[in-house]
Parts: sequence; C-alpha cells; structure tokens
Amino acid sequence: MKSYSIALIPGDGIGRDVTDATWTVLETVAKQSGFVLTGTEFPWSCRFFKETGRMMPEDGIETLHGFNAILFGAVGWPAEVPDFVSLHGLLLPIRKAFVQYANIRPHRLLPGVTGPLRAENFDILCIRENTEGEYSGAGGRVHQGTLDEVAVETSIFTRAGVERILRFGFEQARTRRGKLASVTKSNAQKYSMVFWDEITRKLSADYPDVDVTTYHVDALAARMIMAPQSLDVVVASNLFGDILTDIGAAIQGGLGYAASANINPDRSAPSMFEPVHGSAPDIAHLGIANPIAAIWSGAMMLDHLGETAAAGRVMKAIEATTARGIGTTAGKDSTDAITAAVVAALN
Ligand code: IPM
Ligand code: MN
Repeated sequence: MKSYSIALIPGDGIGRDVTDATWTVLETVAKQSGFVLTGTEFPWSCRFFKETGRMMPEDGIETLHGFNAILFGAVGWPAEVPDFVSLHGLLLPIRKAFVQYANIRPHRLLPGVTGPLRAENFDILCIRENTEGEYSGAGGRVHQGTLDEVAVETSIFTRAGVERILRFGFEQARTRRGKLASVTKSNAQKYSMVFWDEITRKLSADYPDVDVTTYHVDALAARMIMAPQSLDVVVASNLFGDILTDIGAAIQGGLGYAASANINPDRSAPSMFEPVHGSAPDIAHLGIANPIAAIWSGAMMLDHLGETAAAGRVMKAIEATTARGIGTTAGKDSTDAITAAVVAALN
C-alpha cells in the first residue's frame, strides 16, 4: 500500500482547528482510497517561541526535509510575538529553503457560496512567485531612531527565478483554458518589471498555444472585480501576488474558502499546503473557524502527491457540503459540523 509521511504544523489560533479538520477528512479519504497518510505533528508556533526563543528548532528545516509534504495551519499571535518575527521564523524560511517557488491559489465560487460580485462564473488560478522579488528580505536600517534614519528594502528578481515562475504559469495555462495574464508594473518600475515583461515575451515563443496578455497590477486588480470571468491563469511577483490573492479570496466569498499550495515543482524538497487565512485570534478557541480553505488545501496536497482521484473526491465532498448551505454563512456552522458534513459526503 502506498504511504505518505506528512509533517503537520497547526501553528497558532485557528490553525489548530482547521488542521485537525483537514486531517480528519484526509484520513477518511485515504482509508477509502487505499493509501496511508502518517502524520507527525510539530508544535512550532508563537507559544513555542515564548518557551524556546525560536519559532522552530535550529534543525527544523532539516527535520522537515524528510517528509513527503507539509500541512500548515496558520502562524501569528501578534499580542505576544510581532508578526515580522513569527513569519520570518517559520512560514517564510520554509517557503524559501524548500524552493517552493510557486504559490498556487485557486479563486472560484463554491456552489452555495455567495460572493460580493454580480459575476459568478469565474475560475482564476493565481500563481504567485514565492521565494524572491519584493519579499527577498534584502535590506537594512541605518541610524535607527535618529532623524537621519534610512530604511531600504531591495526587490531581487533573478532571471532564473522569473523564468521558472513564468514557465510554471504557461504550463498551468496549457492544462486549463490556455490564457495567461502576466502581471507587472513596468510603466513605473523600469528595471525589474521591464525585465519580467521581456522574459514573458521571450518565453511566449515556446508556448504558441497559450494566449498571453501583460497587465499592470493596478489594472489587473480592477479587472478581478469588474471582469473576473475574463481571467484564467494569473502570474505575478511575490508582493503583487500576495495582494491580488486577497482580492481573489474576497471575490470567492472570503478567506474561509481561499486555499493555497506552496509548490516545489522540481520535487527536490517537500511542498507545503496551507489556507491563505491567518490565525484569526478574534475567533480562536470558539470552534467556528471555517475549515474549507484548509480542506481544499489538503485536496491540493493529495493532488501533488499523485493521489488525483482522492483529491477529486475531497473537492466533490466540499462542493456537496457547501451546496447544502453548510459552511456558507460566517459563524453559522461550527468547524466540527462542517468537517462532519464533508466526511459524510465522502461516505
Ligand atoms: C500569505 C500571507 C503571508 C505572505 C504573510 C503572513 C507573510 O499574507 O500567505 O498571503 O505574505 O506570504
Ligand atoms: Mn497574503
């Protein structure tokens, strides 16, 4: 029987609730489909930081390397640990160390979910560059606290980094409706973004079957609201992709439905699957977090592991659940009730 080792990092706040929910669903589908998932949990979180002074142990990355995939809940507890500390101590180093350069985020309305737009029939796949660009972490501050203080934060775009994310976007477009939107701001940022546009143009020769359009990020943001059905695959830099995928989450009904996969396409290290949402301290411990974004991310994990049929079954079960109106109104159904409904739909 096929077996997969999964590192579970529930993290903080509702990360715990939604990871448990996802694991329940995944174990059910594994049993039905005839493969084994072995979960090993790591308590790395802001609480761990308070106890040890680190978000994860020094050999954390090394430990995770041996797993087939990572299922991640949410990280952050700003009342106790500043976000820039918790994020740069756990989530961001994993994405970078494991070269999870493609952050994939699907944006479409699940049946029964009402979004804020009149448009309903959109199906967008955002692909966000996940290891460099504006979030490279290159910079510094000098003369801190004085009137002469200077802060610089440099965006780093490498040919290898831009080329691989664009190729990934072209390949995805091929498997979908054949349309790629490449997002920059090359009218204002004349080095990195012109570079990105040039590489888009160069690569398009290798994908004559893909219809590629370059957009400025401000125009694309408006298009996601005014004409989302006109978009198929959207590929963007780290910062632009971060912002656009929050718009994507909003138009699909909210963060409770926004799934994501941090993919290492070369499979030289594990990929990581996490809902887009954070730890939501305001509703932590209330048992009302919507687990659908996390469960959908779990389906993306199965897909990545090659368990395509099981992934499809989980998606069908999620859709059957929301179609019945379960998990479609914020705070109405408990995390457990939504999870039970997804499990029932699998059975
Ligand atoms: C996301 C989040 C993170 C990011 C934050 C928490 C660092 O907003 O996954 O979209 O920007 O990558
Ligand atoms: Mn974000």
